[in-house]
Amino acid sequence: MNLIVNSIEAMKDVDGIREMVIKSQRAENEQIHVSVSDTGIGVPPQFAEQIFDPFFTTKPHGTGMGLRISRSIVESHGGRLWVAGAPGRGATFQFTRPATVADRG
Ligand SMILES: Nc1ncnc2c1ncn2[C@@H]1O[C@H](COP(=O)(O)OP(=O)(O)OP(=O)(O)O)[C@@H](O)[C@H]1O
Ligand SMILES: [Mg+2]
Repeated sequence: MNLIVNSIEAMKDVDGIREMVIKSQRAENEQIHVSVSDTGIGVPPQFAEQIFDPFFTTKPHGTGMGLRISRSIVESHGGRLWVAGAPGRGATFQFTRPATVADRG
């Protein structure tokens, strides 16, 4: 939810196409790989790690806890969460987690 809301907020003031793409696929080593991409303002490369720090926010009413909590949820399931440098505009957040029996249905 936080990744989706972040994408919507990142595209709020963008002129032109506003598109969010959510993909989930099976990756190597029995992992599930999920990505949330948007055509918003993007994340400058120098902030790619800082945005995961507690209380880091660029929003007037943000708490800056969203990505910190998202990362800890993913890590508690044995996965990783990161932001990928997208060429051009927008941001792509990705996470992996181990596949479970429920994923094989
Ligand atoms: N999709 C995105 N595109 C561009 N910048 C982003 C995106 N997602 C996150 N960010 C940047 O990372 C910061 C931290 O995000 P995070 O979700 O941790 O907090 P927040 O959205 O500001 O507040 P909240 O705690 O309500 O989620 C944002 O304020 C924004 O600067
Ligand atoms: Mg957020």
